[in-house]
This record gives sequence, C-alpha cells and structure tokens, in this order.
Amino acid sequence: MVLSKTASESDVSIHSTFASRYVRNSLPRFKMPENSIPKEAAYQIINDELMLDGNPRLNLASFVTTWMEPECDKLMMDSINKNYVDMDEYPVTTELQNRCVNMIAHLFNAPLEESEVAVGVGTVGSSEAIMLAGLAFKRKWQNNRKAQGKPYDKPNIVTGANVQVCWEKFARYFEVELKEVKLSEGYYVMDPVKAVEMVDENTICVAAILGSTLNGEFEDVKLLNDLLLEKNKQTGWDTPIHVDAASGGFIAPFLYPELEWDFKLPLVKSINVSGHKYGLVYAGIGWVIWRGKEDLPEELIFHINYLGADQPTFTLNFSKGSSQVIAQYYQLIRLGMEGYRNVMENCHENAMVLKQGLEKTGRFNIVSKDHGVPLVAFSLKDNKRHNEFEVAEMLRRFSWIVPAYTMPADAQHVTVMRVVIREDFSRTLAERLVLDITKVLHELDSLPSKLAVAAQQNGKNGTVVKKTEMETQREVATYWKKFVLDRKTIKNKIC
Ligand SMILES: Cc1ncc(COP(=O)(O)O)c(C=O)c1O
Repeated sequence: MVLSKTASESDVSIHSTFASRYVRNSLPRFKMPENSIPKEAAYQIINDELMLDGNPRLNLASFVTTWMEPECDKLMMDSINKNYVDMDEYPVTTELQNRCVNMIAHLFNAPLEESEVAVGVGTVGSSEAIMLAGLAFKRKWQNNRKAQGKPYDKPNIVTGANVQVCWEKFARYFEVELKEVKLSEGYYVMDPVKAVEMVDENTICVAAILGSTLNGEFEDVKLLNDLLLEKNKQTGWDTPIHVDAASGGFIAPFLYPELEWDFKLPLVKSINVSGHKYGLVYAGIGWVIWRGKEDLPEELIFHINYLGADQPTFTLNFSKGSSQVIAQYYQLIRLGMEGYRNVMENCHENAMVLKQGLEKTGRFNIVSKDHGVPLVAFSLKDNKRHNEFEVAEMLRRFSWIVPAYTMPADAQHVTVMRVVIREDFSRTLAERLVLDITKVLHELDSLPSKLAVAAQQNGKNGTVVKKTEMETQREVATYWKKFVLDRKTIKNKIC
C-alpha cells in the first residue's frame, strides 16, 4: 500500500552505478519504463537498492523467522511456482497442509477421537487467522441470537488494550465493537477479572493473548476460563474464548508443558499461531485451529469445483504460495518435539543472558517476564536526560534494529525497548548487544539532554513555543544526527 512517503520524493528517477555497464538511462521511479532493459541490469539495479535495507538477522524488532536450513530453503524454492489453491493439481501439498493442521491441533490438545481429523486451516499469518476465527465467533453468536429472537446488530469483543493491531482491524473491518481492558503501570496484560466484568450478552468472545506483543507476557487463560465459566453459569450466556497464540503457540507446549491455556480448557474454542514466528518458517504462514466442527459455522465455508474435485475453502484470499506450507511441514518433522524444545530452550537461555547483561548496567528496568515469549523488554530507569527512542536510534549505528515504543492506554507514559530472541540470535550476539548498548549509554551521557536542546531551540527567537512530543523528538533526533556527523568528521570516521 503506497500511503507513506518515499525516501526521496523529489527524485523521480532511479540511478545505478554498476548497471551503467548495461544501461545509461535512469529509470522513472513511479511510471513503468517505456523500454525493456537487460535482465542483468534489472537485477543489479534492484540488488543495489536493496542493500540499503537493514540486515534481517539483526532486526531484533521482529518475531518473524530470518533463518532456515538450506534444505528447507531448497524445498521452498522448488515449490515457489505452485499456487496453493490448486488443490486438485497439487494434492500432496494439500495433504501436507492437512498434516500440519492435525499436528498443531494435537499440540494444542484438541479433543479429537483417534481417527477424527482436526478442523483448521493454513493462513498467510496470524492476522488472517484471527479474522477467520473472529468471523466464526460473530456468525455463531448471530445465529444464536436470531434463534432466540433477540437483536444481533451490536456484537462486541473483549480484549486487553495490549492486543496487536490485527484485532483492531478485525473489529473495524467486520463491524464488531472492541472493548479493551485498560493496562496500568507495571501490569501490561489483560486482567481476567476486569475482562469478565466487561462481558455482556453481545460479547462474541474474549480474546486472550499467549505472549503479548509488547512484553511477551502470557495472559492467564486458565483464570479467564474459570471466571467466564462462572459468569456463563450465572447469566445463561455462552461466551467463549479465543487464544491469540501468535508467538506463544510454539513456545508454551515446549517450555511450559504444564501450563493450562489451550483446548484443555473447555471455553477455548479456537487458537491461532504464526507459523512464521516460533513455528520457524519464513514470513507468510499462520494457522487457525477450531476445537471442533461445531465451532466453525458451515455457511462460512465455500465449496468450489472448477479446479477439479469439490474443495472446501475458508480463507480471505484465494491464491497463495505453497512454499511456506511445505516449509512448515519440514520443520515439524525435521525438529519434532525434541528439536522445537531445544530451540525454544536455547532462545530462553539467550534471553536470560541479555536480561542479566542489561540488569548489570544498572540503567534499565526489565518490563518482560522470564516466563513467556523469549524476549527482553526494558525501559530506562531514568529517561529525563535521554530517552529510549534516543538509545534505539543510536543503536542503529551498530546495525542493531531495536524498537522503542510507548505502551497503550492507560500506561502510555511508559516507553520500552524490546529485543526479540529468535533461533538465529546467539549468545555471542546477546553479549555483543549489551556491550553496544553500554557504549551508547556512555555516549549519551556525554551529550546534552534533550530538554536542554529543546530549550535552546525555543529560545532562539526569544519566544517560548510549546511543542508537541513528536516535534521535540524530531528536533532532538536532528540535533543528534548533526552532532554525530560532526564527531564522525572530527574523529576521522571512527564511529
Ligand atoms: C499477539 C499477536 N497477534 C497477532 C499478530 C499478527 O501476526 P501476523 O504477523 O502473523 O499476522 C502478532 C504479530 O506480532 C502478535 O504478536
């Protein structure tokens, strides 16, 4: 989607140094060129531009897999030209997706009889999975209300304010009111007691997160289940639970097998998980599993027959690649329970190394929990002189991509930085990151505080202008870029 500004809007052409061996003319940036160019030139031009993207392995902002084994890369490349939806033409690929659905359903303790097949589907990611799960809840609720002769035009869903944006999208796209339980300082997940208080007869489900995006913490699904069972008994309602296990779905079964969060709890009717996060597959795969057939209204399933035999589909998109499904199957059989456990334990240990290193600096409060998604979320103990955005910005110079963000309501005054520990983030990298953060802190200590800079800027024309937080941040960033650049020149490009 092109709603954002591009890096250099004034420059309407794309130039390339190496490609001048093949082409001399620059290419229009936003219009299709009139003429063809040699394939080598096209490759070189694009390759050169892409060099300016960050290094995915150092992108610590993302949960999404950035490394896979070469054998799996090969399988993916070999199936890059297979459209997943052509199920009749690629029946083996369809079979592999069905095996994945069943393996994941068993992993989540779906109550299946010995020969019963699981109900679920592969999606592009957890977002699509959540749209489908949400639609199933909405339709089921509407059907019940119609059957009871009650109004069915004001559905709502209860979540914590910490939900990922895909829940807000679901609510807006599919016209469901989102009732969010507010957070508070020091408590960054949905409080089950408050969530259940917010449930009313129009609530289609309560969504709990197994691994909050903001700090990796697992929400207490067991407590939510117990409280909701009680409320359902008192009211006669039948409010169900969805678990958004985008990250935690491939962590909890291996690191915390005793934790009760999945289909073992009677009110959990559907669960989503991102195959491309701790499922260990490159971007483009998610899964949604339903407890049983009765939880997915039949009228949402479409049947097509023009590609061959009758094919049931329940997805938002029609065509999509097969590679990710095949890669997911590879990971499930290649690693098995043992392999996933090893990977997750290793991630957890590396998260602890990073956490301890950060604690040793004495400068940070740790906002994540040891029990949860292997990530470390932290904020500065004192961010009056310099804040987390500034630390994140300066870390870029060491090629680290670490996000800084403010928490949602009612904890928006708290800013955190977050490092996601993936399989390819080693202990050595964790130790290196601590060293680089320490360097950044020392450098920041020698810089003037953002308040002093802002005051200096305000005083320039003699008047004091009240600036927004964003304006102040921008000013500080500009000031620093200049400061760092000046230092670079002085120190003969040492930093
Ligand atoms: C808790 C949670 N739910 C849903 C999503 C969306 O997942 P996806 O990127 O697979 O669509 C994310 C992504 O980070 C997440 O953390």
